[in-house]
Amino acid sequence: MTTLEDATPTPAVTPVVLGGARGGPSVPTLRKDRWWIQPVVTVAVLTAFVGYASWAAFVNKDYYVGTSLHRDLISPFYSPCLTGSCVPGSHPGTVITWWTISPALLILIFPLGFRMTCYYYRKAYYRSFWLAPPACAVSDAHGSYSGESRFPLLFQNVHRYFFYFGLVFNVILTVDAIVAFSQPGIGIGFSVGTAVLLINATLLWLYSLSCHACRHLCGGGVKQFSSSPIRHKIWKALTPLNAKHMMFAWLSLVFVAFTDFYVRLVASGTIHDYGFHF
Ligand code: FES
Repeated sequence: MTTLEDATPTPAVTPVVLGGARGGPSVPTLRKDRWWIQPVVTVAVLTAFVGYASWAAFVNKDYYVGTSLHRDLISPFYSPCLTGSCVPGSHPGTVITWWTISPALLILIFPLGFRMTCYYYRKAYYRSFWLAPPACAVSDAHGSYSGESRFPLLFQNVHRYFFYFGLVFNVILTVDAIVAFSQPGIGIGFSVGTAVLLINATLLWLYSLSCHACRHLCGGGVKQFSSSPIRHKIWKALTPLNAKHMMFAWLSLVFVAFTDFYVRLVASGTIHDYGFHF
């Protein structure tokens, strides 16, 4: 008797192996699509962001556009500027006098801690930098897996606490965006810089409100939604945002760097911040 299997034998499939021949990690897979594009793009964007943010944090200048240019624009990397080294006008009053190097190095601990421990970014950089695994249906490049149950990855569990710090920074950057409507010496107005700061604050709020820890905080641990109607409403509102968390993660990351870049260009006199006033 002839069976279907006899009539149509399954063709032999040769696993694709990356890197092994050059001494790098072996990544066998049967996938024929371009699964490697996503990890490569992730490495490129995250490396570019870390490189730019490090440079911007250490350079310690051109982060504030003040009265001389009739603007009140501050880079998100340097806000709130609370150290003795802040340029005049960029801070409400010096609070930390013993910190004399770039104020951004003190500030960025919190937003970077929030992003580094983000559940989505963890997936992205575990896959792209550590190849663990690089993609679905692609072998892990490492022989063993200990998950996040041991130090140092156990530290990732602090994400829920960084979430609270993230909210504080969102409030501060929202205030910065509102303050950007003032044009010292002219009055109240609106400029490209105002729009940039507003969009930046909005994207950061969307990133935070779509956070998995936020959704759990609002609707997690509830046994009956009918007995917690307000939490249920909030949870229902946050759930569609949560589904777009990856998009907000990338948009807010790129735009926060762009916001610093824009303020830097205006502060250094490279471009003019076009706008109007009332
Ligand atoms: S899961 Fe990404 S910010 Fe919380």
